[in-house]
Amino acid sequence: MNLAQCVAHAQTLGLPRLEAQTLLLHQMGRPLHDRAWLLAHDTEAASVAQLASYESLLQRRLNHEPVAYIVGRKEFFGLNLQIDDRVLDPRADTELLVSWALACCPDPASAPRLLDLGTGSGAIALALQQQRPKAEVWAVDASDSALGLAQHNALALGLPVHFVQSHWLQNVSGQFHVLVSNPPYIAQHDPHLATLQHEPQQALVSGPDGLKDLREIIAQAPGHLHDGGWLLLEHGWDQAAAVRTLLHEVGLTCVQSKMDLAGIERCSGGQKK
Ligand SMILES: C[S@@+](CC[C@H](N)C(=O)[O-])C[C@H]1O[C@@H](n2cnc3c(N)ncnc32)[C@H](O)[C@@H]1O
Repeated sequence: MNLAQCVAHAQTLGLPRLEAQTLLLHQMGRPLHDRAWLLAHDTEAASVAQLASYESLLQRRLNHEPVAYIVGRKEFFGLNLQIDDRVLDPRADTELLVSWALACCPDPASAPRLLDLGTGSGAIALALQQQRPKAEVWAVDASDSALGLAQHNALALGLPVHFVQSHWLQNVSGQFHVLVSNPPYIAQHDPHLATLQHEPQQALVSGPDGLKDLREIIAQAPGHLHDGGWLLLEHGWDQAAAVRTLLHEVGLTCVQSKMDLAGIERCSGGQKK
């Protein structure tokens, strides 16, 4: 089988072309973005050993293991992060939350205090620190193992984010200009969880209606916001109205939601007067 046929074979098994190519590049030890190389070498034959090893990667993916876990890396907001099963595989949708947080502190010369709640791999906090080098960026997670990987990513990228183990805002002191969070928001009996069994349940599941953690964060947030500060939250596709109600209930103003590229209300936020 040549390399083009390897990719075609993966597609017949049901994998998107991009994933088939990424896994093949990983198997061959090539840079993951180097799809041009694959096209230029598509008539090259794969060895029997390469085919067997590629097939085992395909089976892992067909068993719903995220590509990021298989290849050990993920691009997020232009940052190359190390990823493994200690943390959620960061989603492209979450870049919307980062863009919104950056819009809330538009002056790159200012030094706002920013906090990422439930940082996982560190994706949001690290993107904010990279885009706003003068900001004092903090990141918390309840999971020590997630924090270990986030700290590793910060060190590898040379970004001076401060990490704290905390149940949401419990171990955090002081006030912030922006609180940002992509918390767990899937209901505990949601059928989608069946295809997410490789990711930490603590990163996904949030009580019977998926809103348990959003409720806790929203209740704790106003006490940790400067006047004029923003709380920005990612949530499920059908949770925007409920989250806006919760934001109003704690007295935040300018409550609004932002849509993702698919036109789904993906994030909601409000400002402390
Ligand atoms: C959906 S993941 C988001 C990870 C990362 N921010 C991202 O966007 O890729 C949610 C994160 O919240 C953390 N978490 C869950 N419950 C928590 C709690 N009570 N306090 C702090 N962090 C919590 C999980 O460990 C997980 O890393």
